[in-house]
Amino acid sequence: MTGSNIENDLRVGYTFDDVLLIPQRSTISSRKDTNLQSNLSKNIRLNIPIISANMDTVTESNMAIKIASLGGIGIIHRFMTIEEQINEVLSVKRSEGIMIDQPVTIGQDGNVGQVKELMSLHKIGGILVKDDLNKLLGIITKRDLFFEYDDKKSVKEVMTKDLITAPEGTSLDDAKTIFINNKIEKLPIVDSSDELVGLITSKDIYKRDKFPISSKDGKGRLRVGAAIGVREEDVDRAIKLTEAGADTIVIDIAHGHSNHTINMISKIKDKIGKADIIVGNVATAEGTKDLIESGADAVKVGVGSGSICITRIVTGAGVPQLTAISDCVSVAKEHNIPIIADGGIRTSGDITKALAAGASTVMIGSMLAGTDESPGVIVSRPNGRYKMTRGMASLGAAVDRRIKETNSIDEQEMLEYVPEGVEALVQYRGQASEVIGKLVGGLRSGLSYCNAKDIIELQNNSKFIRITGAGKAESGAHDVHIVE
Ligand code: XMP
Repeated sequence: MTGSNIENDLRVGYTFDDVLLIPQRSTISSRKDTNLQSNLSKNIRLNIPIISANMDTVTESNMAIKIASLGGIGIIHRFMTIEEQINEVLSVKRSEGIMIDQPVTIGQDGNVGQVKELMSLHKIGGILVKDDLNKLLGIITKRDLFFEYDDKKSVKEVMTKDLITAPEGTSLDDAKTIFINNKIEKLPIVDSSDELVGLITSKDIYKRDKFPISSKDGKGRLRVGAAIGVREEDVDRAIKLTEAGADTIVIDIAHGHSNHTINMISKIKDKIGKADIIVGNVATAEGTKDLIESGADAVKVGVGSGSICITRIVTGAGVPQLTAISDCVSVAKEHNIPIIADGGIRTSGDITKALAAGASTVMIGSMLAGTDESPGVIVSRPNGRYKMTRGMASLGAAVDRRIKETNSIDEQEMLEYVPEGVEALVQYRGQASEVIGKLVGGLRSGLSYCNAKDIIELQNNSKFIRITGAGKAESGAHDVHIVE
């Protein structure tokens, strides 16, 4: 008889609900004293260990901006054209910075209609006007367009010409003084020959003051990642995304422990500048080892763990998530490479357990899919408000992808498609900051229960206990009628 020997090979795989963390005598006086910084990848450190998932119902620029403002990072999904994905990355990069070094501009012969299009495409409220020699001529803001109904009117007629500018090297604090004294919102930066070199906005300074722990790159811009697949055209996608400023490229396929993935790492490694490569998904020590030895700067772990995944049902393959994390960490820590726990996070307690098992960060999908910042609209039902989410391997996602790529649909191909994900409604949860705030608060308390002032101490000190079904039932509210 061939095949795996069940008697000898069988191990028990655990997931979050199978265990609890044993409380320990705590020296932490306030949970506010805990430090949640953690490594996303070899060269990127985050202020909170939370990543929004590269799913088309979770992360486009709105979500990425919010998560990075709160100290984590968002990964822009890949189910759009290269140009669209680049624009999403640019929207994040332009949303905030010490100075926006490639502000959106238009020539004075452009018209109002084009300005409106640029404003809506880049989600910005002002466009600088310059000539062919890069000399600054003026600015058009939303206020200039308020009563401007004639889209054919030229930029020259509408723009504001008398501009207050500042020289290269102006600090944010100096810019803040200029904004306050002159009651303006945008400050173009020019060099000694009056050529445009950048733009500082009052919004950037407001955000710097409001979100002091946001994740930023060396230029003070919010960090963002972008996902790619393993097709030949994804090499070009990766190059263009990093040129647009993506801090990390996430090679993301369902079964990441594959030759395709490993080849892709070597194809892009030397072509994407300083961006880190995150690779996944795997669920084993062997998979982690192969990806790290091929050049991965972080490994994403989770096969079938996600809320909308049915991979384990359809294929029979997968590893319960806590065991998968622990197995992958056992190899990754020898190489000093962080592990991302991807999928299955439903509570702050799950995050504490994932990190205690050795993950450095967690990736979250459906918990964020129900927020204002995710793509899609709110759906009202008699029993509440919801948003749509779906597995990236669901039938709906596959159909939409095919229509987008080919403008048509091959019914036979879709009938033969075997989905490994589902489409679902998730409860509407308000702003992402509310969800993240609750998760972060719970995680800080979790650290305090484990006598850990930071995530490294949590990983070193934690002790798990396995629980039974009765223990699990006891863990939630029980034997009461919940009123809220
Ligand atoms: P949560 O539980 O946070 O999980 O919603 C998000 C993660 O689920 C993965 N994902 C899928 N897995 N089939 C799968 O088996 C799918 O169609 C699918 N879509 C997303 C992905 O890793 C994501 O981050």
